[in-house]
Amino acid sequence: MKIVSGMRPTGRLHLGHYFGVIKNWLELQEKHECLFFIADWHALTNKYKDTSDLKENIKQMIIDWLSTGINPEKSILFIQSGVKEHAELALLFSMFTPKSWLELNPTYKDLKFNLFFQYLKDFLIGKKIKINNITPSESLDIALEKATGKQKNKIFEDYLRELFFRAFYNQKGIDFKSLKENLIKLGLNRRVVEEAINSLEKGDIGKDIDTLGFLSYPVLQAADILIYKADAVPVGEDQLPHIELTREIARRFNSLYKHIFPEPKHIITEEAKLVGIDGRKMSKSYNNAIYLSDDEKTVTEKVLQMKTDPQRVKKTDKGNPDVCTVFSYHKLFTDQKTVQDIDKKCRNAEIGCVDCKKILAENINRFLTPIRKKRAEIEKDIDRYEKLFLEGTLTARKLAKTTMKEVRKAMNLYDI
Ligand code: TRP
Ligand code: SF4
Repeated sequence: MKIVSGMRPTGRLHLGHYFGVIKNWLELQEKHECLFFIADWHALTNKYKDTSDLKENIKQMIIDWLSTGINPEKSILFIQSGVKEHAELALLFSMFTPKSWLELNPTYKDLKFNLFFQYLKDFLIGKKIKINNITPSESLDIALEKATGKQKNKIFEDYLRELFFRAFYNQKGIDFKSLKENLIKLGLNRRVVEEAINSLEKGDIGKDIDTLGFLSYPVLQAADILIYKADAVPVGEDQLPHIELTREIARRFNSLYKHIFPEPKHIITEEAKLVGIDGRKMSKSYNNAIYLSDDEKTVTEKVLQMKTDPQRVKKTDKGNPDVCTVFSYHKLFTDQKTVQDIDKKCRNAEIGCVDCKKILAENINRFLTPIRKKRAEIEKDIDRYEKLFLEGTLTARKLAKTTMKEVRKAMNLYDI
């Protein structure tokens, strides 16, 4: 099977990336013909203003990949922008890709939804709108009555989200008019509401990503995959719509010109998602990640900060490992016998959380030791390792050129 996958160079890799993606790649490269690339053009789609750290991020990604065992002798490793043919194929695809496929793309829509919603929320809450003045629907009324302080804000936010959701995911595009009416009906100050909705309508918000490049992100991704005639693409769940679109583009090309492209399937990592140290999704922006490049001390400190069973206040309280972040890590980093032992002892209040965390920190550090060793080796001789990616890029380019010849012929284009 031929496998293609890419990663945007947006910063150092954390344990979430390792268990979500890298581990999968490591297994695949043992059995299949794999091409893995650093998607630097894709990183530009939403971060085009300041490109000063792009090169450094690519270097960090090279180090992260190689130190975990992604192997240039087993896989073709390359840098996307070194294979200009991806851009040519994306351009040709863009000729017959209906705009609506992209506008309806869930990833694009969700990002826009989040941006708009964040703005609306910050604006309304920022204006210190008193929630007590709201005359909301009955269910919210009851909920607000029960809630206090912070929670009240949360309920308001949930309600706001629901209203916005209804206006946003609408057949006819965003229904700003009904949203405005609903917010005013809710008892919010008319002037404030109008101000917020007007800026949304004017298109000031989300303007940064309102670019051609961002919209056509999936077209470039389709080119990345199809140019190597991949059979399968290992990706995270959030990427599924992009792979579906890749198949649609392949079908459309094949039926318009000539059957050149196989329809690739996706491979999803089954691994349980690793949460951050605060129990939320592990993410750079939440500042809750443990990085592959963290040193021993940092890892131990982060583990000691980890969220445990919130009901367990004193050491003599019985705990529930099922709701504990630390325990979810033990399942990945600790041997099964010890995991069972901790499970039992936690439920019987026979182990304290600090001791439990110390065991975990040790095990994560043991897991990271060989990776750290390799990292140090690579950092000492970075030029040599960077060169491996340049060689990989040349190999990839050869493959891409072959496909492009076929494509130009099928489309009756000049091939000069
Ligand atoms: N969009 C992918 C992500 O954000 C990165 C990517 C770009 C990719 N091109 C690809 C993944 C091709 C798989 C195949 O994770
Ligand atoms: Fe979590 Fe371990 Fe504390 Fe139990 S003892 S609550 S598993 S940290």
